[in-house]
Amino acid sequence: MINIGIPISNYLSKEKLKGSFLNKKINLIFNNSKKKLADDEIIKKFKFCDYLISGTEKYDKEVLKKLKNLKGIIRIGVGTDKIDINFANYKKIKIYTTNNNLSSSVAELALTHILILSRNFQNSDRNKKFKWIRQYGNLIQNKKIGVLGYGNIGKNFKRLILSFNPKKIYVYDKFIQISKTTNLIQVKTLKELFSKCDIISIHLPLNEQTNNLINKNVLNYSKKSLILVNTSRAEVLNEKDIIEHMKKNLNFKLGLDVFWKEPNIGQIKNLNNVSLSSHIGSYTIESRLAMEEESIKILKKLIKK
Ligand SMILES: NC(=O)c1ccc[n+]([C@@H]2O[C@H](COP(=O)([O-])OP(=O)(O)OC[C@H]3O[C@@H](n4cnc5c(N)ncnc54)[C@H](O)[C@@H]3O)[C@@H](O)[C@H]2O)c1
Repeated sequence: MINIGIPISNYLSKEKLKGSFLNKKINLIFNNSKKKLADDEIIKKFKFCDYLISGTEKYDKEVLKKLKNLKGIIRIGVGTDKIDINFANYKKIKIYTTNNNLSSSVAELALTHILILSRNFQNSDRNKKFKWIRQYGNLIQNKKIGVLGYGNIGKNFKRLILSFNPKKIYVYDKFIQISKTTNLIQVKTLKELFSKCDIISIHLPLNEQTNNLINKNVLNYSKKSLILVNTSRAEVLNEKDIIEHMKKNLNFKLGLDVFWKEPNIGQIKNLNNVSLSSHIGSYTIESRLAMEEESIKILKKLIKK
């Protein structure tokens, strides 16, 4: 009997997954709680699983140690920062990611935050109690746009923002060389990116190098009316520094999909000029179904082996 755990909440393809393994000796264990599971819940429910289809739950050394039969984690999404990869390698647990359609989904959400903040929609729509506030906004057209991290999502974001005819797009990516075109320019430092741009969208992975990368030293270079959007991981941005910066710079605007202690959004909710979403970057039906389909394909290959 092979045990497959599905700790990710809101898994849409239950029936498809069941149908894919009808004639096999396979036991499927779903998370029906509709919430992200804590460490002890994961250990209790998925203790004997051979494979997991995971979301953003935490798989650190302590959790992985207790999942004694685990051979593989298939992550619905791309961020693997919640998995202790070194320990997983040591335990010979293979990690797979799924990114089908995901980049467009996150890029469209980043653009949504930018549109909201550009037109000050966040102020009239605050707390769902609509207020009649007529505040001048700004165009995206002719603005200088920064893309921080030029991987799959960063590239998709550039594709979308190009249609607004920005003045220039500046890219900061330490590991990718971009050939210069008329309106796409690679900058070498964060200082350059933050001092030049009117709007910046962050698309970095979370790792030792990017943890707290955007802190007061970087923020101090930014234009006073910068629109900064983070749909990557909260820890890339220093929470204390961004709050202090926004309290001092009242025209600074911030769009966030990711938070430091999710689902708690902390002090950010007390600030003006913020546009917030509940970590829904990949939450489009199209992306989700495509990634789940990809996870089933990976599982089928693994189980055939
Ligand atoms: N909000 C959400 O629901 C959601 C969904 C999917 C992904 N994400 C996050 O978005 C991140 C980016 O996803 P992606 O698919 O574009 O990843 P990717 O790996 O394709 O791109 C990341 C880019 O960042 C660059 N980079 C890495 N370290 C850097 C550094 N120190 N300085 C400058 N550049 C650096 C890399 O060279 C790469 O080009 C993911 O790691 C994940 O954390 C969030």
